[in-house]
Amino acid sequence: MEKNRDKSVLVTGALRGIGRAVSLRLAAEGYRVVLNYRGDGEDRANELKSEIERLGGAAGIIKFDVADKDECSRALGEYLKSNQVFWGIVLNAGICRDGLFPVMSQADWTSVVDTNLNGFYNVLRPVVMPMCKKREGRIVVISSVSGLIGNKGQVNYSASKAGLIGAAKALALEVASRSITVNAIAPGVIETDMTESLDKTIADMIPLKRFGKSEEVAALTAFLLSEEAGYITREVISINGGLH
Ligand SMILES: NC(=O)c1ccc[n+]([C@@H]2O[C@H](COP(=O)([O-])OP(=O)(O)OC[C@H]3O[C@@H](n4cnc5c(N)ncnc54)[C@H](OP(=O)(O)O)[C@@H]3O)[C@@H](O)[C@H]2O)c1
Repeated sequence: MEKNRDKSVLVTGALRGIGRAVSLRLAAEGYRVVLNYRGDGEDRANELKSEIERLGGAAGIIKFDVADKDECSRALGEYLKSNQVFWGIVLNAGICRDGLFPVMSQADWTSVVDTNLNGFYNVLRPVVMPMCKKREGRIVVISSVSGLIGNKGQVNYSASKAGLIGAAKALALEVASRSITVNAIAPGVIETDMTESLDKTIADMIPLKRFGKSEEVAALTAFLLSEEAGYITREVISINGGLH
């Protein structure tokens, strides 16, 4: 869509699962998508960039680990020196390290909180001020139903995802006067690598009797980034097949 050509959107954890679907969807809607990856994902990032370009879209690439504050600040600071301010940020990168709390290692607690919750600070802190100066924009945070209801075996993950909701709602208040919206999406069980090892009979507990698709989360994300969603802020929108 021509109307989005001048808007760039950063998607963290863009190479797999929901992040990949969001990136492809936003590119199809005409946004310039800036694909974040970490570690040795360079080849896969280039492949996704080429795929988007083959489909007629535009993409850039940015490497940082969302759990590493200094790396985020360096990479995003460099990026903003020579590129336009982001219209949108999709904070998607996340991990789970499930296990019952009484035997949960500190490493499993810390890595999940560092990625899912501290990632909010690490990624948004360098980019929010420029967005405020531009006085427009959209921030979409991928939380989880686990953050709303708590989930057995996911005390670390539920804590991080609930924290994200609080952070998003508070930030929404701070930036509302700059016409920036901040919303959270709380997916239920979505078919990705993250849920690959789950017992498929879990679907029987979901009213719609199936796992969700990344493309369905991408469609909701695209809506929240759109001009049409400009009066929606400080909300948590769940996409869960009736599971909550
Ligand atoms: N799938 C579900 O049922 C579900 C439900 C609710 C919420 N969510 C949330 O949705 C988001 C995406 O999940 P998914 O199911 O698409 O998971 P996924 O298939 O495991 O993909 C996660 C993506 O995040 C990236 N990532 C992880 N840690 C990162 C870090 N420190 N820095 C940069 N990138 C990082 C991964 O990169 P690598 O390839 O380098 O690992 C990967 O691209 C997560 O926040 C997850 O918590 C998922």
